[in-house]
Amino acid sequence: MADSPTMTYGGYLRLDDLLSCQEPKTRAHDELLFVIIHQVYELWFKQILHEAALLQSRLEEGNSAGSLHTARRIAKILKTVVGQLDVLETMTPRQFAAFRDALGNSSGFQSEQFREIEAVLGRRSFPASDLRGDERLQAAVSRPSVFDSLLRYLAGRGHPVPREALERDLLRPWEPDPGVQQVLLAVYADETGPAAEVCEALVDMDEGIQEWRYRHLKMVERTIGAKIGTGGSAGADYLRSTLFAPAFPDLWEVRSQTGEAPLHGG
Ligand code: HEM
Repeated sequence: MADSPTMTYGGYLRLDDLLSCQEPKTRAHDELLFVIIHQVYELWFKQILHEAALLQSRLEEGNSAGSLHTARRIAKILKTVVGQLDVLETMTPRQFAAFRDALGNSSGFQSEQFREIEAVLGRRSFPASDLRGDERLQAAVSRPSVFDSLLRYLAGRGHPVPREALERDLLRPWEPDPGVQQVLLAVYADETGPAAEVCEALVDMDEGIQEWRYRHLKMVERTIGAKIGTGGSAGADYLRSTLFAPAFPDLWEVRSQTGEAPLHGG
């Protein structure tokens, strides 16, 4: 590293830039917290997308240990960002009301990185207005999702993944598939095997996103009650409609089809 002697902490991290990006629009004390927490979220979203790309390439290479490591890291990041909502929940409705008008129509609704994460995890049903002008989102909906990469990983390990599932139209939403569920049941029959552990780490990721949606909704309810959102949605009612929709439905469905483990020695 030729320039390392002149490298400084602040220079390496570009702290002058980073710490000049917080510009509250009012003098309300709590607005800085609101800005910082959203910025921190966007940084974690960037990291999740970075890790998800690695996860997909590791799955497609058949690298079980690497996939497991990366999927677990993503799940831990999700736990961390869910935990951060505790900080924002110390802001009372009146404290938020002191600067809410200054937000105009801006809203987490417009988070391009959040939409990209949804697409990487498999969402395809975006309004045309979201896709227009967002090249990264357009690219993400045309690529295999994390679940598509899991299917390729399982096929590479010799599991009989149905060909239609492997060759599906990537632009369409995934439909839960009984043939794929049979494969997953067979994978889980060896429940501590590498493939089953990878599947479980994907369930952790899926649960992490659902947990975030639930905690975000509760925070919204306690901060703005039933008011409409700054992004123009019905607010909490809209957010409630996004709950409990798994990214990887087949991994949940097989839970209902799983029998008992054989007794030891029997
Ligand atoms: C006081 C704090 C917050 C309130 C009152 C709030 C409120 C809302 C509301 C009402 C919506 C629905 C869309 C709309 O009409 O605006 C929404 C969506 C969203 N918010 Fe928040 N939010 C808060 C904090 C956060 C934080 C810290 C994040 C982190 C990035 C975030 C990310 C999002 C995302 C990604 C959506 C889109 C969800 C979806 O469409 O499924 N919000 N928020």
